[in-house]
Amino acid sequence: MIIGIPKEIKTDEKRVSITPDKIKGLIDSGHQIVIERGAGESAGFPDSSYQNVEIVNTAQKVWESADLVVKVKEPQQEEFKYFRQNQIIFTYLHLAAVPDLTLELVKKNVTGIAYETIQNNNGSLPLLEPMSEIAGRLSPQIAARVLQSDFDGPGKLLGGVPGTEPCRFIVVGGGTVGLNAALIATALGARVTIFDINLEKLRAIEYRYRGSIKTVLSTEQKLTEYLSRAEVVIGAVLIPGASAPKVITENMVSNMNPSSLIVDVAIDQGGSVENIKQTTQSNPTYIKHDVIHCAIPNIPGSVANTASTALSNATYNYILYLANNGVENMVTNNQSFATGINTLNGHVTHDALAASLGLQYVDVKEAL
Ligand SMILES: NC(=O)c1ccc[n+]([C@@H]2O[C@H](COP(=O)([O-])OP(=O)(O)OC[C@H]3O[C@@H](n4cnc5c(N)ncnc54)[C@H](O)[C@@H]3O)[C@@H](O)[C@H]2O)c1
Repeated sequence: MIIGIPKEIKTDEKRVSITPDKIKGLIDSGHQIVIERGAGESAGFPDSSYQNVEIVNTAQKVWESADLVVKVKEPQQEEFKYFRQNQIIFTYLHLAAVPDLTLELVKKNVTGIAYETIQNNNGSLPLLEPMSEIAGRLSPQIAARVLQSDFDGPGKLLGGVPGTEPCRFIVVGGGTVGLNAALIATALGARVTIFDINLEKLRAIEYRYRGSIKTVLSTEQKLTEYLSRAEVVIGAVLIPGASAPKVITENMVSNMNPSSLIVDVAIDQGGSVENIKQTTQSNPTYIKHDVIHCAIPNIPGSVANTASTALSNATYNYILYLANNGVENMVTNNQSFATGINTLNGHVTHDALAASLGLQYVDVKEAL
């Protein structure tokens, strides 16, 4: 197969989808790599580090020649024109948040495979996990910075110092993002509480981190109460493939302390805060109801070297499998990988996505 690596064009996105150390394995298996000039540059991987690949000058050349386009973020409007029948796009798609893209993939019969919906039999999300670890670990860093006076914040130190109050740090969703955020925030001295609707998850966290992380079963009443006292809130909920549930309502936000902060990590799936708007790395916050809102959809992009390496480590075996075996074989023999297929042969093949967008769902085997 010809595997294409275009340069990412989403605002402030600096990651690259495949790092140089993974190229040899793909080539040794008989595949060709076409990469856009400078695709890895901002992640610290110059063109010279990619050996035995074809380097082309434009994105168009990559998209034209590749059977399998491997990306980081969902294709942007400017990339829609490159879509063609039976092309495979393997990337974070987050289609529930971008209906235009979903319809375009369906219209052009593109096979859209989303990293974030690939699910193992135990329910884990192996290709979302590395970026969730990074976004989770970065979110207290983002919070710490935004709370500083020199960033127009309220001038509070997350952990305080002896004789002052540490910040109350609420994490809504105790999965990968949530737990990683909680661990870093705890290490920085904040007073951390995790909310989740899954009691088993809370139990596991409580048994392991008893004393340092508090857990609360999420109900509207409890969340309203805790949010009204918090300095920092992290939105980290997920229902795989679906739009994020709006667990934090405008009413809850309007009852929060002035200059408190919400970092809605779940913004890539539409956001867990009612009516929240996306922000960017270069313009990360806005204020509403006197509360600072931060909703960057590509948080790991700001640590592009670590994030590209972590992503490529996780996706490599999947890319190799796909390139060696093709989509049909994957659908028939690799049920877990096939959970990543969101669009195939003009159909939406992920049930939660179809339900979120009000589109017809067709089982992936039927769509073949
Ligand atoms: N912005 C970014 O750059 C970035 C990067 C990585 C991940 N993410 C996003 O972060 C979100 C979380 O990802 P994750 O890997 O931690 O997912 P996860 O599946 O590991 O965890 C999600 C948690 O949310 C809980 N949950 C679901 N509905 C809930 C509700 N109504 N109330 C409370 N808890 C609820 C689940 O029980 C689960 O524990 C996803 O939307 C993911 O796409 C964003």
